[in-house]
Amino acid sequence: MENCKVQKAEGKLGVLVVGLGAVSTTFMTGVLMTRKGLAKPVGSMTQYDKIRVGRGENKKYLHYNEIVPMADLKDIEFGSWDVYPANAYESALNAEVLKEKDIEPVKDELVKIVPMKAAFDRDYAKRLDGNNVKDCKTRWEMVEELRADIRNFKKEHNCSRIVVLWAASTEIYVPVDENVHGTLAALEAAMKADDRKHIAPSMCYAYAALMEGAPFIMGAPNTTVDIPAMWELAEKTKMPIAGKDFKTGQTLVKSGFAPIIGTRCLGLSGWFSTNILGNRDGLVLDEPANFHTKEVSKLSTLESILVPENQPDLYNNYYHKVRINYYPPRNDNKEGWDNIDIFGWMGYPMQIKINFLCRDSILAAPLCLDLVLLSDLAARAGRWGTQRFLSFFLKSPQHDYTQGEVPVNHLFQQYVMLKNALREMGGYEADEEID
Ligand SMILES: NC(=O)c1ccc[n+]([C@@H]2O[C@H](COP(=O)([O-])OP(=O)(O)OC[C@H]3O[C@@H](n4cnc5c(N)ncnc54)[C@H](O)[C@@H]3O)[C@@H](O)[C@H]2O)c1
Repeated sequence: MENCKVQKAEGKLGVLVVGLGAVSTTFMTGVLMTRKGLAKPVGSMTQYDKIRVGRGENKKYLHYNEIVPMADLKDIEFGSWDVYPANAYESALNAEVLKEKDIEPVKDELVKIVPMKAAFDRDYAKRLDGNNVKDCKTRWEMVEELRADIRNFKKEHNCSRIVVLWAASTEIYVPVDENVHGTLAALEAAMKADDRKHIAPSMCYAYAALMEGAPFIMGAPNTTVDIPAMWELAEKTKMPIAGKDFKTGQTLVKSGFAPIIGTRCLGLSGWFSTNILGNRDGLVLDEPANFHTKEVSKLSTLESILVPENQPDLYNNYYHKVRINYYPPRNDNKEGWDNIDIFGWMGYPMQIKINFLCRDSILAAPLCLDLVLLSDLAARAGRWGTQRFLSFFLKSPQHDYTQGEVPVNHLFQQYVMLKNALREMGGYEADEEID
């Protein structure tokens, strides 16, 4: 690491997770179990992946923590906010993702993770009605209380750094409104004027995090930090932001599979994706206004991989549909079906079917860990604003749409971006070789 200029990861890293539901508790339990040597953090790039640095005779394959200084799992301190008062142990049991035998050994630590009162507005998630909620008169008050929460947590747990991760429910769709979300001044004015229609509670968390010097990651499809006002705040506070929406099951498959069609110049006439899901996430997404946020995020993936304008013969007018159906018997075990109608030589049609019987939170937990650790790394490396190298983990990567920027959704291009960012931070040369 002799050429690496990144600040060392000294002291404790406070990981404050908004939402203490299925994903968060699976993430926390897995980290605590791994720390005890009782589980393996499978699926986590920061714990397993190796990147080649150097070329020819000098090439080496190194783990991330051999390239750049990463925070150690033993230095993580978890905290949370939730609408429901259940602690992380109770919530992990309720979620029914993990077996009791995989929770009990860290019960003592999980019990201590008691959610702080949530900054919540029922209009943003009608299916939730917990009572562990802050009593705030205005959005600005929400911000101030959240900032105090972050400061207190940092002090009480003796943390040197904080990262805030949103793993709470998907809020209703908030379209970007230039007059409110266009500048930081307008956003702050709207918070002070208590403009509840344009200021989602998630924006208050993000604003509070950035103002307290903590990176903010949006794991749901909410527009929260995907607005110019937040980009401005991230620049002002010199803090990294990342979003939106963990790329876990169906979209991971889509962004890995679509390149097969594109690389071989096969045609696409339709892609129908449907899911059945029975956890609380599925319940919230059963509400049309909340589903719309998810739909926008899920639909955006294909368009930048199979681009109609670039190949009108192959990708003109393909029909892309995404559905999520709430189906309680499956709980967290989501089943995704993809029916892909392709065509080949002289336009002859063919079909591909993909049936992914996955586990939502099992796929999301390693992403939480990687996004948290890499955002903390980015902050120490002096990188601020939207972290495009984290697109690899996200379904709807943030990009500057005001400048017509197109997001990179292609999984393998995203992987190159991830590797090159790490190489650069480690003081190595970036390259695009495939290994
Ligand atoms: N698991 C996946 O594969 C996956 C993939 C992409 C995105 N996500 C997103 O991750 C999020 C979490 O998923 P989950 O399965 O853990 O859901 P969950 O319903 O089990 O947990 C979410 C928790 O957030 C809490 N919450 C809602 N609004 C809040 C607020 N304003 N402040 C504090 N807490 C709040 C809820 O009370 C709930 O306990 C969802 O938005 C989901 O869409 C999950």
